[in-house]
Amino acid sequence: MQNILNDIILSNKKCTANGKVASYIPELKNANIDDLGICVIDKDNNIYCAGDYKKKFTIQSISKPIILAMALMDNEWHHVFSKVGMEPSGDPFNSIMKLETNDTKKPCNPMINAGAIVTTALIKGKNLQEKEERMLSFFRKLAKNNSLEINKSIYESEKLTGDRNRAMGYLLKNDGFIEGDVEETLDLYFKQCSIEVDVVDLARIGLLFSNYGIDIETGERVISENISRMVKTFMVTCGMYDASGEFALRVGIPAKSGVGGGIMASVPRKMGIGVFGPALDEKGNSIGGLNILEDLSNKLELNIF
Ligand code: DON
Repeated sequence: MQNILNDIILSNKKCTANGKVASYIPELKNANIDDLGICVIDKDNNIYCAGDYKKKFTIQSISKPIILAMALMDNEWHHVFSKVGMEPSGDPFNSIMKLETNDTKKPCNPMINAGAIVTTALIKGKNLQEKEERMLSFFRKLAKNNSLEINKSIYESEKLTGDRNRAMGYLLKNDGFIEGDVEETLDLYFKQCSIEVDVVDLARIGLLFSNYGIDIETGERVISENISRMVKTFMVTCGMYDASGEFALRVGIPAKSGVGGGIMASVPRKMGIGVFGPALDEKGNSIGGLNILEDLSNKLELNIF
């Protein structure tokens, strides 16, 4: 396995030159475009890492499946899906269009920004501070890493420039899809996106979903089987935004990307995978990350279809 990962990193290093580091959140511009790293944790808890696996980056949209799991644990699922849909949008992650043109005006799914703002509003807590503490401790539990923290400068940069998300938040409130204070919901949304991780954290989280919510080391049930299955299903249908269909055809693994350059992948009953490469394609997915996962899927026959 180690040799396979070393080879895959080497052979994909060149393709990072074809992408661009996200710049719409000013702080993200500081990433190194050439970085490429991977971590695989298999069902026997063997950990394999290669490339720039020690680099830290913000989780960004990879927080969306985790927040969905939390919203489903905090609420009846009928309530959650009365506020957010179950269908791929076919639009970019930050699109606002279908909030007006859909019959229901409901966000299409929880993997796009509008849907994630709704699931964030469903997180329970008596005030913002308690919600933030619950959220961070849930991420730490899933990653089995108590040192996870919010990157303050990225959070501030997101908050300062997040007017598109802000517009969606107010529209969603107006249409009855979020209750309570919009600014508070957005604050929690910007904070979840700004949690700093590495590929080992992502592989750990992917492994938990791949094992249907049971911690492989301790046997503890962290997330129900049903919620783990729902999250992986959304990762297949919507995890790579408007590139989800092509990714399912080429790679065939439940996965979720973020504009920080990370991708978290979860191969049912087999392994969790974390990859990182901040050079993004035009849809906001890591170019190196996509290629690495395609090669790995072919080499190890990981395609679930
Ligand atoms: O809301 C945003 O725009 C970012 N904080 C997260 C977007 C993201 O990661 C989309 N990913 N490909």
